[in-house]
Amino acid sequence: MVVSLGIPTLPGRVHGATDGRPATPGLVDRFGRTATDLRVSLTDRCNLRCTYCMPADGLPWLDREQALSADEIVRLVEIGVRDLGVRQVRFTGGEPLLRADLVDIIARCAALEPRPELSLTTNAIGLASRAESLAAAGLDRINVSLDSLHAETFMKVTRRPFLERVLEGVDAAAAAGLGPIKINAVLLPGVNDHEAPALLRWALEQGHELRYIEQMPLDADHTWSRSSMVTAADVRALLAPHFGLAPVEAPRDGAPAERFTATATDGSGLTGTVGIIASVTEPFCVDCRRTRLTAEGSVRSCLFSHTETDLRESLRSGADDAAIAELWRGAMWQKPAGHGLDDPSFVQPARSMSAIGG
Ligand code: 5AD
Ligand code: SF4
Repeated sequence: MVVSLGIPTLPGRVHGATDGRPATPGLVDRFGRTATDLRVSLTDRCNLRCTYCMPADGLPWLDREQALSADEIVRLVEIGVRDLGVRQVRFTGGEPLLRADLVDIIARCAALEPRPELSLTTNAIGLASRAESLAAAGLDRINVSLDSLHAETFMKVTRRPFLERVLEGVDAAAAAGLGPIKINAVLLPGVNDHEAPALLRWALEQGHELRYIEQMPLDADHTWSRSSMVTAADVRALLAPHFGLAPVEAPRDGAPAERFTATATDGSGLTGTVGIIASVTEPFCVDCRRTRLTAEGSVRSCLFSHTETDLRESLRSGADDAAIAELWRGAMWQKPAGHGLDDPSFVQPARSMSAIGG
């Protein structure tokens, strides 16, 4: 048994690995990257049906006992921060607010040593009534998915009429001190791409940081095509008549968004930061620091990997923390160099975004 001293950089620890890994405690891979940013999918379920993510009828959801319990999630996060060098934890889904025990999970993760930075990616439905308690539990930041400010277009993208509830959720999060709030928008050609400048204007007025995300081939309907996506270059062109964009000089530090200071060209003085996440056309895989856990407790080393490493079986059959940490390290060592989205031979993973966890 390995006695953890709570110091994740203990030198010379021997893991007995047979795959050529160095004996370091962190989540290193064959290409020199170290994962310190953990994404945990808390559920595969969602109350929206965004066309780029889910089919209209939803997906065959996990049974209750297939999904990890709060105890199991907290144990894995603890192994991550105490033994594997994880510094940031983001809870995703599906829709994480659908878990009744979300506040409890966050409070318990906030009590871990060293205390990780905690954030949540959500569609904000139901956030209005929970923002305060999430902030009190220790949640640091929030990202909200919002692709349109028009009820009709919102309905077209998400197949649900809940725009007002999302906006209420965003306001409540700001009031609860969960800002600066990041707003994630996926632009779809002919659906909401014309809203690119209006979304930015709104976000700047509210003091939120908008990020445009290139659509990735993770839709359950498998309808993505390179020619049917709005690229980062398209976004810059759509904004050009309305905003000046000056690149933010600060180092990206593994962050997926390229950030700009946007200033309205109408003389209003409206200004603030905007991000563009060009996962497809300008991939940032060489600097990726992410490791992912699916809602049923498997490690995915990359959104686009075709393999997963099950930790749930070990959790439930009495494996100790050291054995689980070692499985996790082994999974990350196999992380692919990149996703190859722009390569004609690219094969879309079988799971959609909601099943993997953004
Ligand atoms: N391409 C790009 N972004 C996606 N998201 C979900 N599916 C896709 C996709 N196919 C986004 C959501 C959410 C974030 C976690 O991922 O909008 O904001
Ligand atoms: Fe739900 Fe997010 Fe998928 Fe939309 S993108 S259906 S909000 S999980």
